[in-house]
Amino acid sequence: MRQQATGRRVVPRLVLAGFGVSGCCMLAHMRAVFRWLTAALFVAVVVQVGLAGYGAFHAIHTADKASISKKTIENGFNAHAAVGTLIVVVMLVLLIVAAAGGLGKRNIQWSGGILALGILQFVLGLASTKVPALGFLHTVNALAIFTMTGLLAHRSWMKGRPAKAAPAASPTA
Ligand code: HEM
Repeated sequence: MRQQATGRRVVPRLVLAGFGVSGCCMLAHMRAVFRWLTAALFVAVVVQVGLAGYGAFHAIHTADKASISKKTIENGFNAHAAVGTLIVVVMLVLLIVAAAGGLGKRNIQWSGGILALGILQFVLGLASTKVPALGFLHTVNALAIFTMTGLLAHRSWMKGRPAKAAPAASPTA
């Protein structure tokens, strides 16, 4: 497939044609979408960890008043399960944007790695209710996801920023 070169990067022609815009505008647009997605993902991960805490304390609080069923405990984790699923979808979109937008090998690798951790997290979330020891991995993997999404967001937002001006040289006598 023939491709159109845009500076150092190469954007698939098919992607550009689909939007009917020039290569440089498309690349800038995709970069902005990618950047905002990394920020949204990081915030969602923080919220997700908070929702796990809500689920745990909801169970204790409810059990304080009456004996509770498994269903009642799960109800406290409904939001966690919903946001967790959404997070994995956003991770997939992030990888698609990085690959289709031609945003470079490193962004694709990072997004792919994050998606792999997200899928693992989803599977561990399902399996841990049957094998509680796996819950240890579900929580530790959350730390890995937090770190990687935070680093990627930081990297995306810092990249392309103008470098700080060098301090003015002191006048010599
Ligand atoms: C990046 C952070 C996290 C993500 C993306 C995530 C994702 C998920 C998902 C998708 C599920 C639902 C699986 C299903 O459909 O049943 C789930 C379940 C669960 N997660 Fe997480 N999780 C994260 C962090 C945590 C943390 C930090 C904890 C606890 C300290 C935790 C505790 C649980 C528990 C107890 C369940 C089972 C809930 C139930 O079966 O009702 N999660 N998680």
